[in-house]
Amino acid sequence: MEKFRIEGPTRLSGRVRISGAKNAALPAFAAALLTSEPVHLRNVPAVADLQTMARLLQHVGATVSVEGSEACIEARMIETPEAPYDLVKTMRASVLVLGPLLARIGFARASLPGGCAIGVRPIDLHMAAFERLGASVSLDHGDIEAKAPGLRGGPISFDPVSVTGTENAMLAAVLARGTTRIENAAREPEVQDLARLLTAMGAQITGAGEREIVIEGVERLHGATHDVIADRIEAGTYAAAAAATGGEVRIEGAETAFLAEPIRTLRSMGVDAEASGGSWTIRAPRNLRACEIATSPYPGFPTDLQAQFMALAIRAEGISTITENIFENRFQHVPELDRMGGRIRVEGNRARVEGPSTLLGASVMATDLRASASLVIAGLCAEGRTLVDRIYHLDRGYARMEEKLNALGAKIERVR
Ligand code: UD1
Repeated sequence: MEKFRIEGPTRLSGRVRISGAKNAALPAFAAALLTSEPVHLRNVPAVADLQTMARLLQHVGATVSVEGSEACIEARMIETPEAPYDLVKTMRASVLVLGPLLARIGFARASLPGGCAIGVRPIDLHMAAFERLGASVSLDHGDIEAKAPGLRGGPISFDPVSVTGTENAMLAAVLARGTTRIENAAREPEVQDLARLLTAMGAQITGAGEREIVIEGVERLHGATHDVIADRIEAGTYAAAAAATGGEVRIEGAETAFLAEPIRTLRSMGVDAEASGGSWTIRAPRNLRACEIATSPYPGFPTDLQAQFMALAIRAEGISTITENIFENRFQHVPELDRMGGRIRVEGNRARVEGPSTLLGASVMATDLRASASLVIAGLCAEGRTLVDRIYHLDRGYARMEEKLNALGAKIERVR
């Protein structure tokens, strides 16, 4: 198993280019199953989750070729309409193939995802959405099976809002007969990006980015070329790292409009976050102020940046409070951050961070993707050596993280 060996402390400085968004590229890969024509995707990040998705599409019967940041997917035939257990357990977003398979051939099967490190995360809402489109859904030996001789549009409502649930509903409804209204739809930029790709493939979608998405089903979709949006979570992670290390970093290629809430939080802490065009510069002051964060669906503060901002809050003066409203078990980084010298206490879904604390390097264990990023940020700030174990979690969602951080002055080595 690989680890990061981080020698700290470091002050990050320089510029970093943000890769394409993992969470936009994943549904885009799945969307390619809706047509027999090739779908070309650009700005695809080199992350392990997309390799998993590529394997899944190949399993289903598509050909997938990836060269650098470009991917071409061609699903002439659907051979095996299922997401098998080994892929679903590695990556929950595998269930995104269900919507397109159901729409294209009227049948889809997936292993039911179990609990994961950050909470229970069921897929009941995805299933309910398919039922609203006329599918019958059953559970068979741990697998979910959805069948529909022909989908028809219908009303779908999400409670709570689900990002991949909304995407799966869209992926099925684009080929359903008639009109589908998705109420309380996720408004995330990744949902909007999927709508752009589907529209380029011939779908009729309005309202993506708003609470209600309306889809008029079409008979067939065709190939398209699409540029995946930049990864706002990667951008927010580098911003938190820059601020935590007292650095000055120019973050290039990420849309600042998608990060309004994290940027507002940084500014409230005294960080200078200046945006111009597609890039922004983070300049950290000598002393940071405590912050108050409550995660919520977009455009609120993203749960996927909660852990990284907690590492940042350790450096701030005063008491920061961080409330996690999306996932019930997303504080697994807390004991690890405390082992490095953080003073964080958790009560229910709220963490109280007392700062500033001087962090000391330690051996720590990554538990999930974003928790791992918070440990790397803490390691950059800490005195001495930090070993972050199980960085396969990081590789799932961050492209060349150590390379990008080392170019900013970090001293990180990947070791076995
Ligand atoms: C997506 C993102 C993930 C992010 C999350 C929240 C991808 C591939 N992943 O995950 O990085 O952390 O949004 O922004 O885009 N829920 C149910 N039943 C369901 C589905 C969800 O109860 O059928 C609950 C979940 O347990 C959670 C909440 O709804 O409490 C929101 O989860 P959801 O938006 O579905 O997360 P994902 O789409 O899995």
